[in-house]
Amino acid sequence: MPYKNKTHNEIIAIDGPAGSGKSTVAKGVAKRFGFLYVDTGAIYRALTLAAIKEKINLRDRKALAKLAARADIQLNMRGDSLRVALDGKDVSRAIREQSLTEKVCCVAAIKEVRDELVKMQRKLAKKAKGAVLEGRDIGTVVFPEAKYKFYLDAWPDERTRRRFKELRQMGQKVKVEGIAEDIEKRDKSDMTREVAPLARARDAVYIDTTELSVEDVVEKISSLIGNSRCSI
Ligand code: CDP
Repeated sequence: MPYKNKTHNEIIAIDGPAGSGKSTVAKGVAKRFGFLYVDTGAIYRALTLAAIKEKINLRDRKALAKLAARADIQLNMRGDSLRVALDGKDVSRAIREQSLTEKVCCVAAIKEVRDELVKMQRKLAKKAKGAVLEGRDIGTVVFPEAKYKFYLDAWPDERTRRRFKELRQMGQKVKVEGIAEDIEKRDKSDMTREVAPLARARDAVYIDTTELSVEDVVEKISSLIGNSRCSI
């Protein structure tokens, strides 16, 4: 299912592994340019939650693809925070639970599911004058023609530290060891799956965020975009 609309250039693609700072940075960049922010991971998470609620076996590809085609998943910003709704109910917290996070990779590895969700992501982004999408396959699959592509990364210890802090702030009782293990497992699964593996697009700007603050990264991305927009 190749992406054909080559004229759409106000798409900013941000990919990277868990804890690389994608979400916070993508939100900041979207705000800076007045663009729509699309957290594609939240969509995979919400679909996984929907499957669990409907007691669908997470290996049942057909049932999951059907669910992906009809699932009512909405993303909305409330101030600076993203609210995720499933069938009209707020599931923003539920989709971040560790027990759910462990199951998302399984659902996200199914081609038929991805086909449906990629369609949804493209539709969402095209409705806006511009959009910042963050995930694992934005620059490689969802919008390979995007003019602005970034791949954020950070050392594993730093990624674990960030995720630990974030989940603790949400009130989750997590342990550092558990987080490190989850990140390692997910990196492996996301990078080695057959369909749309996590990878840096060849034309993406690589940013190591280990020693950078969120503001530094937002600034760096915004100035790269700003400079290139000026030279059009
Ligand atoms: O926030 P974090 O980086 O931990 O994960 P996320 O962006 O919420 O994504 C959760 C999971 O969804 C990932 O580990 C991937 O398995 C899957 N995902 C994907 O396959 N493709 C995307 N574009 C986004 C997420």
